[in-house]
Amino acid sequence: MMVLGIETSCDETAAAVVSAKPPVLRGHAVFSQTAEHRPFGGIVPEVAARAHLDHLDGMIEQALAEARIGFDALSAVAATGGPGLIGGVIVGVMEAKAIALARGIPFVAVNHLEGHALSVRLVAPVEFPYLLLLVSGGHCQLLIVEGVGRYRRLGTTIDDAAGEAFDKGAKLLGLPYPGGPAIERAAKEGDARRFPLPRPMAGRPGCDFSFSGLKTALRLAVARERGAGALQPQDAADLAASLQEAIIASLLDRARNAIAIFKARCPMGETLVVAGGVAANAALRRRLETLAGESGLAFVAPPPWLCTDNGAMIGWAGLERLRLGMTDALDFPPRPRWPLDPGAVPVRGAGVKA
Ligand code: KG4
Ligand code: ZN
Repeated sequence: MMVLGIETSCDETAAAVVSAKPPVLRGHAVFSQTAEHRPFGGIVPEVAARAHLDHLDGMIEQALAEARIGFDALSAVAATGGPGLIGGVIVGVMEAKAIALARGIPFVAVNHLEGHALSVRLVAPVEFPYLLLLVSGGHCQLLIVEGVGRYRRLGTTIDDAAGEAFDKGAKLLGLPYPGGPAIERAAKEGDARRFPLPRPMAGRPGCDFSFSGLKTALRLAVARERGAGALQPQDAADLAASLQEAIIASLLDRARNAIAIFKARCPMGETLVVAGGVAANAALRRRLETLAGESGLAFVAPPPWLCTDNGAMIGWAGLERLRLGMTDALDFPPRPRWPLDPGAVPVRGAGVKA
């Protein structure tokens, strides 16, 4: 089984070829649109869609070349079918449908979040069920992964996602986009204890997240430190370290509650997994590993390149679905919103995303 995966839901144009038994990444290529969006300090949907259009063919060509195969060797083609910026999703879905139609192979529409959720199984033999902390630029959730297509959401954010907290924080500190890696770099030179920023939701029952108050607290701290002048490099580093610490502490507090629920519901479950772009953060990975160890769980994190958006996770999720016969018709409609657990209890909050 050889599956081509296509990812175009945000600002990475990516393609990869994966195969099973054992799971192997045969080839992959990512074009990161960071430079295109940097002048705007965030992602501009139409700029993203046009860049996907410009670069997707090239990424597919590269991934196939690295895998040393042609289209004729493919068993199926998978693309992110949502959720995401709809212009980009349409580009990837149309390309995948065209390949499937021309080659007479199955098309698989992959939920981007399922791509993140299953990515770990491409690189490690993690069995279902496992507890997943999914932390990206658009999503922040704790889920029990029961199987392919089977998710129980324990908590989600009532306003910003963890990645958004990093991105917006970086903007306030004058650091470049994307904010996560920039904050992580700056934090290495900073003192995380200097600014006592709030730990949103900490100590509260449940597993929901909130980050907008943290952003406000950071804005006030920046204004105080800057005064009438510019923020000094050491102040920016200390603020970055304090922000990263507050985000991590909040994520850990929520994950601790989720572990208790997971252990009660799934006594056979053995593993805590982290995925999504924020999972590339080394400090977060270390702290989650400690938490899992204290809780008697194994901790597995995909390598950082597999945490940020990529085609391999979409190809892999496509392969997992293909071998269960879960393919999609060519009239599949790209979906801007697509919850992993449609039965999840709706959350209340200022900026809840459906
Ligand atoms: O999964 P992803 O590539 O795209 C989405 O699906 O959203 O995640 C991107 C997010 C951005 O918010 C970015 O700032 C964050 O992941 N990120 C990080 C790190 N690398 C990427 N956050 C913290 N530390 C990092 N090293
Ligand atoms: Zn993502």
